[in-house]
Amino acid sequence: MRSRKALGTPSQRLEANESILTELGLPVSGIEQLMAKFHLSYNSERLSWHHHIFASWSLTVSGKSPGAVLEIGTESGAFANFLGAVLPMKEVYTIDLPDSDEKFISEYGRENENYRADYLARRSENVTSPNVHFKSMDSTFILAVFSELGNTSQPGVNHGIFDAVWVDGDHRNPQVTIDIVQSLALLKPEGFLLVDDVVMDPNFRSDKYVSNESWKTLIHLQKAGLVRCHFFNKRTRVDGLQKHLGFVQRIS
Ligand SMILES: C[S@@+](CC[C@H](N)C(=O)[O-])C[C@H]1O[C@@H](n2cnc3c(N)ncnc32)[C@H](O)[C@@H]1O
Repeated sequence: MRSRKALGTPSQRLEANESILTELGLPVSGIEQLMAKFHLSYNSERLSWHHHIFASWSLTVSGKSPGAVLEIGTESGAFANFLGAVLPMKEVYTIDLPDSDEKFISEYGRENENYRADYLARRSENVTSPNVHFKSMDSTFILAVFSELGNTSQPGVNHGIFDAVWVDGDHRNPQVTIDIVQSLALLKPEGFLLVDDVVMDPNFRSDKYVSNESWKTLIHLQKAGLVRCHFFNKRTRVDGLQKHLGFVQRIS
């Protein structure tokens, strides 16, 4: 079953996203110029807004300060590379399943051995910046692994607690709920999670990569008074399923 029809025009969705940035105290001005440095167009109707949101945050005092960010789901490493470049004062940790994991092999076209070899080479090239740290691991273990890291004198890490977590691994349950709950536990009080591919439709039937389960979890946590959520349009042009990015702040 498809999600209900997206509301509004691309320019209305753009305006809605900019209003959320403003409500969150994040700047709109300056994002376009910053993205252009990476050959990304602010006005692209196709580009996912996680680029815009992290670019905006990078322009703030918090984004410019030392600290750490976690990305769950490295994939090609292109976004980890972008994060490392726009957040030069942060240590960017990015994780993906071990290369031999059955799930890793069976998804995102990696079933093909030649493609997988090229893909792994591309990923290695993308995670070479000194502030970008790739870890091959299942996100189920982030709490144990990164709490441990916080006990060391690793630069930029404040007791293993992140300024931001980009939750973009498995978008279905049980994993996405495990990722959200453990990421919240690793977050600095003033930090945020950004959750990818949130489908805000109670009738949506999951497919291999997409579900409405992150949305249900976020709404549950919000009703319990534990988090505050804002939902950005993932893309301003929507041809099919309307997906959102959940911007999540801890209340306690
Ligand atoms: C949508 S892609 C990530 C895209 C990337 N974050 C970006 O912004 O372009 C999802 C990735 O999450 C990884 N993944 C899925 N389940 C995971 C898990 N339990 N632990 C770590 N990574 C996982 C997949 O292997 C895949 O490479």
